[in-house]
Amino acid sequence: MHAARLCMQSPVAVVPTLGGLHAGHKALLHAARKGGESVVGTLFLNPKQFGENEDLARYPADHERDLGIMRSAGVDAVFAPSVDEMYPPGDAFTVNPGPIGDVLEGAQRPGHFRAVATVVAKLFSATRPDLAYFGQKDAQQLEVVRRMAHDLRFEIDVVPVETVRDENGVALSSRLAYLSENERVAAEIVYASLCSARDRWTGRERAASALESDIRTVIQSEPLATLDYAAVIDPETFEPHGGPIPDTGALALVAVRIGTTRLIDNLRLN
Ligand code: PAF
Repeated sequence: MHAARLCMQSPVAVVPTLGGLHAGHKALLHAARKGGESVVGTLFLNPKQFGENEDLARYPADHERDLGIMRSAGVDAVFAPSVDEMYPPGDAFTVNPGPIGDVLEGAQRPGHFRAVATVVAKLFSATRPDLAYFGQKDAQQLEVVRRMAHDLRFEIDVVPVETVRDENGVALSSRLAYLSENERVAAEIVYASLCSARDRWTGRERAASALESDIRTVIQSEPLATLDYAAVIDPETFEPHGGPIPDTGALALVAVRIGTTRLIDNLRLN
């Protein structure tokens, strides 16, 4: 990878992925193609960021298909290391994101953001990009990576890319592949709940607790959905606002199980 990197025109843009590519990834690759002179895509199904009872074994990565999508998107190189290459025996260092790694998704999935930060740091040092593209659907991951790049002085611009949704508002995710037809319809409740909070916000509701309770009520109206959390937080700190939300806005986040599939989504309120 380093040899290939030396031959590339700067700025080099990287799009890290787990595989299982969909139109959301295509949007990342497209943005990277526009922003960089050279584009590197990574395909690495990182086992360490999946909890014991999570979906690593059924994750829908298909190497040949994913390579084809990267190729059609015009990437200059694909970095697709093996698990042993990424985690050789004896490697022990990890990157600890600090408090942001322990709230919301981090509280539900202990160790997840440490594993994400560690693998992204390794992918950054393998690909040595100037720019790195991450989707806004994984808002907390984006913030963890942004802070890591800043705090560890990687000198990489972390570029957010807007969430891609289907015609019913469902945020695209590799995990949608697990849903039955009925569940896919039920999944529409996730974005609907966020839109309901946004409508209340537009109607000048400024109490996070009222907006969160609105999200909860909408999710509870769908029999196939179980809420993991609904939170309306300060997008800068990822902590609750200490009082009414200022007009500069907030970030509403939700995690929902539809059957055995866990989906996350978020929406800026401002
Ligand atoms: O969002 C993902 O696809 C993964 O968490 C990432 C950033 C590629 C790290 O494995």
